[in-house]
Amino acid sequence: MKDKICKVGIIGTGGRGGGFAYLIGEREDVQITALCDPNHVRMEAFKKKFKLTSKMYKTVDEMLKKEKLDGVIITSPDYCHEANAVAALGKGANVLIDKPLATTVKGCKNIINTAKKAGKIAMMGFNLRHDPTLKRLKKIVDDGILGKVFLIENREFYDGGRTYMARWNRKYALCGGLWIHKGSHDFDVFQWLLGFPKPVKVSSVAGINVFTPENIPFKVEKGTKVGPTCHECAYNKICPDVHMYAEESGWDDKARKVDKYSKDLCIYCSDKDVHDNGIAIVEYDSGARASHMECFVTPISDRLYTLVGDRGQAEVSLHNRSILVRPRWSRETISYQIPESTGGHGGADPGIVGAFIKILKGEGDVTSTLEHGMYSTAVGQAAEISRREERMVYISELTK
Ligand SMILES: NC(=O)c1ccc[n+]([C@@H]2O[C@H](COP(=O)([O-])OP(=O)(O)OC[C@H]3O[C@@H](n4cnc5c(N)ncnc54)[C@H](O)[C@@H]3O)[C@@H](O)[C@H]2O)c1
Repeated sequence: MKDKICKVGIIGTGGRGGGFAYLIGEREDVQITALCDPNHVRMEAFKKKFKLTSKMYKTVDEMLKKEKLDGVIITSPDYCHEANAVAALGKGANVLIDKPLATTVKGCKNIINTAKKAGKIAMMGFNLRHDPTLKRLKKIVDDGILGKVFLIENREFYDGGRTYMARWNRKYALCGGLWIHKGSHDFDVFQWLLGFPKPVKVSSVAGINVFTPENIPFKVEKGTKVGPTCHECAYNKICPDVHMYAEESGWDDKARKVDKYSKDLCIYCSDKDVHDNGIAIVEYDSGARASHMECFVTPISDRLYTLVGDRGQAEVSLHNRSILVRPRWSRETISYQIPESTGGHGGADPGIVGAFIKILKGEGDVTSTLEHGMYSTAVGQAAEISRREERMVYISELTK
């Protein structure tokens, strides 16, 4: 199977699909032979941008009826992961599903049951597991350098998170809330680093402090209007948060005519019901505990982890690609500086593509499973319920 050229389809030809298309374009052992997106304008622009010869389809069913593919990559919005994954697996395709698996535990279970019946390869796209700094940290943990890890803290600052308020991500109904959409990355990292204990209970507080009309960062003159999108806004020359996509083909008026999807809604004035900052805590059946803070009102993107074990402590910055280990009974420290990597998400995305292709060729096993996807969604869903109902939520309430 070494010389095999895998044929894959991309479902959802937006931003994330583009990241995968770019990386696949760099490889000789894989070709994108099919695209699927209900918006034909966006799909055609995507095909042109990545110089593809792929056939184009509006639905997964149609695509898999006509195409013989080795696998499909699902990069459609979170709200349609379940339908697309069930359709693809039901038609016998091998799938790579970007996070989150689905926006509810119930949806995850539906995908898992379909995958079991289909007996096909099904892999989660958790790119952080391929991040070079986190891979090094995982080795430090697995080598026992910290002893038994019982406490993890993560603080995530995400500059790009503000654009969530400009698109489908801003609505709970479309992404399950940001504890699922974004936090699922982090809840998976906790489980992975800790050796996959089951999460038991979750609590969170979260809310929106900044992205409201009262916090527009410039003076609005009487008789003028802000938004509704950046490209229509009278202030788009001075707004420090402007994020226009309107000129790009695929996101322009022609594409918008098809589905009314605009990616540049005003992040202050858009209707939204997700948080822009919050803190969640989780306890596992191993007795380990973790806390995850996420904030989308920041000038930089970083994840800062502290892991504490019974033999030592580690402090990590993904942005700086640094790990500092402090053995418990010593004043000495061990520093690791991880070399810079190319490819999306700090060098993590080529790892996901590589892993999927390897598995399709029969040369590797799935290590990011759908069950892992379900647990990260479960913690996110519990955190979302916790913040809304102001109570501790047991994972068993969702998985039973
Ligand atoms: N792993 C990561 O770090 C990461 C980063 C970004 C996005 N993502 C994930 O990738 C997915 C896509 O996000 P994005 O930012 O690219 O969104 P996007 O809005 O840029 O693109 C989504 C695309 O999906 C298409 N689409 C809509 N409904 C569809 C359907 N039923 N079937 C097929 N396609 C459909 C849209 O027309 C659009 O072209 C999401 O699930 C998101 O969580 C993951």
